[in-house]
Amino acid sequence: MQGEIVLVTGGAGYIGSHTVVELFNAGYTPVIIDDFRNSQPWVIDRIAKITKVAPIFHAIDCQDQTAVFEMVKNYKNALGLIHFAADKAVGESVQKPVQYYQNNIGSLCTVLNALKEFGINNLVFSSSCTVYGETDTPVVTEQSPVKKATSPYGDTKITCEKLIQFNAEALQYFGATLLRYFNPIGAHPSGLIGELPQGVPNNLMPYITQTAKGIREKLTVFGDDYNTKDGTNIRDYIHVVDLAKAHVKALQYLDDSAEKKCSIFNLGTGKGTSVLELIIAFENINQLKLNYEIGPRRIGDVAQIYANAEKAKEALDWACEFTLEDALKHSWNWEKGI
Ligand code: UFG
Repeated sequence: MQGEIVLVTGGAGYIGSHTVVELFNAGYTPVIIDDFRNSQPWVIDRIAKITKVAPIFHAIDCQDQTAVFEMVKNYKNALGLIHFAADKAVGESVQKPVQYYQNNIGSLCTVLNALKEFGINNLVFSSSCTVYGETDTPVVTEQSPVKKATSPYGDTKITCEKLIQFNAEALQYFGATLLRYFNPIGAHPSGLIGELPQGVPNNLMPYITQTAKGIREKLTVFGDDYNTKDGTNIRDYIHVVDLAKAHVKALQYLDDSAEKKCSIFNLGTGKGTSVLELIIAFENINQLKLNYEIGPRRIGDVAQIYANAEKAKEALDWACEFTLEDALKHSWNWEKGI
């Protein structure tokens, strides 16, 4: 229904900000909850520029239960909450495991307590295909086994998923969707919002754009001796706007479901792209040459993983609209503007 409030924790972040835009586009009133630890306050102004509406936001740490309760009590009629706020760097989580468990699981506990306290019944949770770990087959469905995590970050996602599932079993009026993202790339076509990595990027796409811009000297491809078509790792790169739209659909799905329960959806394109293919496509679409070299494997990387996203397509009535080339163009356009 038009104008209904949707709370969005981490709404100033990369996927969060794009989702806030899509919530506006779909007629909802998003309310951002973000303490800007991994984002910038000016993202709020950029969202306003795109949507022509200044979003409501609260600068609150989601671990702070008193502050979260004080705020959520003003939105008791909210349709639901989309929970993005979390630490997300695999490597950092190995160095700072306590921070990752405390923040990722602590924030979720606070959110679940607040939803229960104020009778808000729909939760959309930001999960990751990292829960599949070292997969038996390159393509994974939601039924593929969840493997033992290889990083604290991955384990927090598995633990959060379990917590939400138990919560949905315990509370018959509470429903949730667990969205397992593959590799989000791209930026808003306007070039006004996009990914803002802190320091040296861990992920491939921002490393590529920063190298193209001259911020990094060269990209290292982590291994070309995998058992894949060209020896480099294969991933499923999904445009962040398509991913954002899936969150709106997941919320509508929860709202429409008569029976409240916990559902899991893979969000990917269903297509695998190798690191070298991505680099070549980036060079071609943007008419430039990237400085890169082949280096050793990165510990912990799986050779190939991509989504079977048929369940999301059918149940959520959702499909990717952007191509890989669109995403690579939008990523570069964004990088040039920051
Ligand atoms: N890569 C390089 N060079 C780089 C960075 C990455 O060659 O400088 C390669 C990696 O080896 C990998 C691919 O690019 O093959 C993608 O790497 P990313 O770090 O961008 O993404 P990952 O697939 O490793 O990780 C992503 C998310 C994690 C999530 C994981 C789930 O970043 O949060 O997917 O599999 F846990």
